[in-house]
Amino acid sequence: NAMLSWQRTGFHFQPPKNWMNDPNGPLYHMGWYHLFYQYNPDAAVWGNITWGHAISKDLINWQHLPFAMVPDHWYDINGVWTGSATLLNDGKIVMLYTGDTDQEVQVQNLAYPANLSDPLLLDWVKYPGNPVLLPPPGIGAKDFRDPTTAWFNPNGKWRVGLGSKVNKTGITLVYETTDFTSFELLDDVMHAVPGTGMWECVDFYPVSTTESNGLDTSFNGKDVGIGLRLDYGKYYASKTFYDQSTQRRILWGWTGETDSEAADILKGWASVQTIPREVVFDKKTGTNILQWPVKEVEKLRAKNTKFRKVLLKPGSLVPLEVGLATQLDILATFDIDKTAVEAAMEADVGYNCTTSGGSAARGVFGPFGLIVVADESLTEQTPVYFYIAKGADGVATTYFCADESKSSTAADVTKIIYGSSVPVLHGENFSMRLLVDHSIVESFAQGGRTVITARVYPTMAIYSAAKVFLFNNATGISVTANVNVWKMNSAQIDYFPLGRQH
Ligand code: FRU
Repeated sequence: NAMLSWQRTGFHFQPPKNWMNDPNGPLYHMGWYHLFYQYNPDAAVWGNITWGHAISKDLINWQHLPFAMVPDHWYDINGVWTGSATLLNDGKIVMLYTGDTDQEVQVQNLAYPANLSDPLLLDWVKYPGNPVLLPPPGIGAKDFRDPTTAWFNPNGKWRVGLGSKVNKTGITLVYETTDFTSFELLDDVMHAVPGTGMWECVDFYPVSTTESNGLDTSFNGKDVGIGLRLDYGKYYASKTFYDQSTQRRILWGWTGETDSEAADILKGWASVQTIPREVVFDKKTGTNILQWPVKEVEKLRAKNTKFRKVLLKPGSLVPLEVGLATQLDILATFDIDKTAVEAAMEADVGYNCTTSGGSAARGVFGPFGLIVVADESLTEQTPVYFYIAKGADGVATTYFCADESKSSTAADVTKIIYGSSVPVLHGENFSMRLLVDHSIVESFAQGGRTVITARVYPTMAIYSAAKVFLFNNATGISVTANVNVWKMNSAQIDYFPLGRQH
């Protein structure tokens, strides 16, 4: 459908057509990054879940391969559901995944590469003794799924986490194994939160609080758990892996559609994966992790336009002439007179991105930021901005929001104002990075302390009609902006030359 074809992304991971959901079993092997994913070979809606498979040298340009696993045994005939890879000490790779059985019971299965010396890992063998795990007593048949990557415990055994629930309490069960075919359930759950329901796609990994490199999942250290949310937008079923070739912890995440199912069927596809993000501890705050698009995405940066010291007086709107604005990487910093904020009594108290009126509601110290995927008249626009308000305690808090409320004139689209607070330390300016790719906007504040992924479906702000603006809707401060905009080339996506079975 030509009318909707502009929504396809240029540099995000997508299968050529049909439905995709969770990223599965990401790993690095013999020079290649492998990504598997939940895929429906037959339609643009969820169903017939099969493992799609693609490989890449750089996490950005991809080659699609034949399906890794299809639903073909009683223990996964209703779907080869989500799973994770574990790289064993002897170089072997094991894949644990959830199968939905012929009786619609969720079980865990084991698979492994037929030929470890094949860099493409084309053939996967399902262990003949599958399933290796059935729902234990007290756990519902449909509440037992998505095994984590295993980690090696100092007692000499591997441990695997599994999402589940008991009544309305979400839990992570932990199993111990030495051979990945027989498992023992530990008495204690890893974590439980009342009222959260079934936990899907639990991910468990260490992050160094002292070094900037990533850590192998089996790394053992001191426990300093912090409760954070990865992404305040449309983001789900995320999964990390340890890239042993560059010593990075890399995060994948599924971004579904927020238009209607009818629109998805019309366009013939649904979902994208976000640009993989490197995860590190934020030593400056000591309370955050940082997520940042892998540096390889910068290879797609093409024409660069810089805007220096643009003064944004209260109420101003400044168009940024960058040409075609459908695929962009934008870095922007904003300087304000912070002493004015600290001294001010009149700052708004209590702010909430979702409920405080969005980019149109003017306060003393915000909103200010960028407007992307906008048409000339701003009938359609997606503002991404900072807003400074005072908490009930009188302390200034900065919020980072992405406002979809005017992102599309289409009626069958979810339009949410996403966001949360973001720590801005003394001496720091306000900074944001945006990856704009047709129908997805990934926004990173303060180096990745707060992240928001938005899906947008403009009908007017498309192709050459898509524009970028700077804006300052604050009434009480001027803002000086420095902006670096790169046009992004499209990633190269190839299809497997033999049997184009997608
Ligand atoms: C999460 C999820 C998983 C399940 C898979 C099925 O999106 O529901 O819990 O394994 O998708 O496709």
